[in-house]
Amino acid sequence: MTTTATAHTNIALIKYWGKKDPIFNLPTTSSLSLTLNEFYTQTTVSVNPLADELMINGQAFDSTRTHRFLDMLRDQLGDFAPLTVTSENHVPTGAGLASSASAFAALTGAVTRELGLDLSLAELSRLARRGSGSASRSFYGHFAIWHEGHDDVSSFAESLNAPAMPIALVVAEVSTATKKVGSTEGMRRAATSPDYGTWVKNSNTQLKDMLAAIQASDLEKIGTIAEANALAMHDLNLTARDAPFTYFTPETTQILTLVADMRRQGLLAYATLDAGPNVKIITSQAQAPSIVAQLQAALPALHLEIATSGAGIHYD
Ligand code: PMV
Repeated sequence: MTTTATAHTNIALIKYWGKKDPIFNLPTTSSLSLTLNEFYTQTTVSVNPLADELMINGQAFDSTRTHRFLDMLRDQLGDFAPLTVTSENHVPTGAGLASSASAFAALTGAVTRELGLDLSLAELSRLARRGSGSASRSFYGHFAIWHEGHDDVSSFAESLNAPAMPIALVVAEVSTATKKVGSTEGMRRAATSPDYGTWVKNSNTQLKDMLAAIQASDLEKIGTIAEANALAMHDLNLTARDAPFTYFTPETTQILTLVADMRRQGLLAYATLDAGPNVKIITSQAQAPSIVAQLQAALPALHLEIATSGAGIHYD
């Protein structure tokens, strides 16, 4: 038997940037995301007579993190036979586009289906969280909220059941090189910033405001809050007491300046960034092509894509 699952990646509009428990990936704050239609991972699993074997985009891949995750699943779900895991990743890997979100969500869905288990999305979310925190949000279409919770049972994501709206994301891929500071290490350093407590407090307020903005389909407000939240997250990295760092490159800063310029021209354009130099611009479907055109004119070599709201996990 083989089972195939497809999960889309998600962009956090209220970020997860800190762990109160690194084993269970319990976050210091709740987070909120938009699932993206254009970026996804399709994963097929089948029984392997010998040992767990991983293939990503047609190549054997020996990932300790994935092997550990499969063993965690055996621990949680009961032992199961070794598996061949074949993944096609339609997300640029390792450059802050959160390919681990779609990858661990698709893997969790495929393995549990292959075992004949029919888990709820919340249960899948809890399991996938152990592989990558952001994966907990990738089971749901459109907007999802990951409740920070206080233990393994209470920390999971669910759908916001938000109204349909013409939101779009322009993804500016500054670099596809592997990131220098992984998210776990980045979060550890960020938590040493003297501003960390303030960030947690502000994040709670921003989450409430974001929920209201989403229910009102107010794209401008959604963008304003998301940009403030993301820039504050990146400030923590710069102000870390233990090894300050930045994911920004000169091109990142240049794009942020262009986004501010476009906003002054009256365009709907707000920036968000994850654990890498790429800038994602929150806008509307109607304005996305003008934003692409302006960025392309200023930076001809920049790789740009438009993403829209995507579906939750599905099985073939
Ligand atoms: O899921 P992780 O451990 O790769 O962390 C993701 C962290 C950010 O992408 C920066 C923010 C988020 O909430 O997705």
